[in-house]
Amino acid sequence: MNSIAVLHAAQLVTLAGPQRARVGPELSELAIIEGGGIIVRDGVIAAAGPSDEIERELPNDVEILDAKGRIVLPGFVDAHAHPVFAGNRVDEFEMRARGATYEEIAATGGGIRSTVRKTRAASEAQLLALAQTRANWFLRCGTTTMEAKSGYGLSLDEELKILRVIRQLNETTPIEFVPTFLGAHAIPEEFRGAPEQYVALVIHEMLPSVAEEQLAESCDIFCECGYFDLADSEKILMAAQEHGLRIRMHVDQLTNSGGAFLAARLHAATADHLEQTNATEIAALAEAGVQPVLLPASVYALGKTRYPKARTMIEAGLAVVLATDFNPGSSPTPSIPMVLSLAATQMNITPAEGVTATTINAAYSLGRGDKIGSLEVGKLANFCVFDCADYREIAYWFGLPQIDSVYVRGERVFHAD
Ligand code: NIG
Ligand code: FE
Repeated sequence: MNSIAVLHAAQLVTLAGPQRARVGPELSELAIIEGGGIIVRDGVIAAAGPSDEIERELPNDVEILDAKGRIVLPGFVDAHAHPVFAGNRVDEFEMRARGATYEEIAATGGGIRSTVRKTRAASEAQLLALAQTRANWFLRCGTTTMEAKSGYGLSLDEELKILRVIRQLNETTPIEFVPTFLGAHAIPEEFRGAPEQYVALVIHEMLPSVAEEQLAESCDIFCECGYFDLADSEKILMAAQEHGLRIRMHVDQLTNSGGAFLAARLHAATADHLEQTNATEIAALAEAGVQPVLLPASVYALGKTRYPKARTMIEAGLAVVLATDFNPGSSPTPSIPMVLSLAATQMNITPAEGVTATTINAAYSLGRGDKIGSLEVGKLANFCVFDCADYREIAYWFGLPQIDSVYVRGERVFHAD
């Protein structure tokens, strides 16, 4: 029971290939089947191939969806996002339009700390309702799996509150959320003069509780001048590893503070941002097998011009990932299609490389490459139908929603009117 078949996609973008993250020229290999189709049984892909072959294998009880010249590709996997917070920072957005910088706004009590104040004041139920609305934004942009970081609580109870909201998002929305603990996002107001005490709190109180309640799979840190330096980052991340958490790191976003070398030394799963990272550090990341997560929407939204050296990373053999960095300060967008546009126009990432970086490579970075990220037999039937005939149009027509429908485990969870 519960079989569906999708037939006659102008392009079935399968991403079939090696069972690992893709590197170098592999990033351009999408394994597209023109006129392709799939059969889904009990939420899992049972067959994928040319529609005439698929039609021969159709089970009796199957419901048929004719993709009629549209394209079908795996649901996007957004591997870096901060979706749980209260309020917004539209005032800061306007201040930046008038010439202030992100750093200046943060120095006067705005920035992450202003979202922390609003998030602490919100109840768990209020935060959940806000995040559910945002989950719907992601879904309608084609995202079916996403990372969700804490980091706007910055106390034991408040960080746990956010992580519990993420758990509830998993139970109440079609998106799969992969939780990351980001207690080391900023030093909170009350520890301003004593950052070492906050680091101790993260290590001795927050991490053990997060691990005990199994509220996160990974630990992240904002390794940056004025936030967490290399020594504190190393202490926190090593403690996280002792609790069995994987490591993701915000590094080299505003300044180059050596964070990429630390990510390499700790064999982090990912090093994210990397706007200020140079060739030597890129070589170290390659050597250690760390996946770079590039976030061009945050560069764009802050009005900056220095994008990460994506081509150097691809040439060095890094398994590049692209993500939104959705957050109220530096990247208020849930849209992977927008990220693909920015990747093409600002970083010379081709549309094919972009699709690989937001599906299969992103899935491997979240430890889910065996279940999602490509349309191959045995994987979850998480896919989107786009109203165009060529996958490159997703990045090309920017600012225009081209999504037709979104499926999670073979169930339609979004349909455009
Ligand atoms: O990834 N860099 C740190 N964290 C976010 C910004 C968070 C915020 O401004 O609220 C980022 O860009
Ligand atoms: Fe971020």
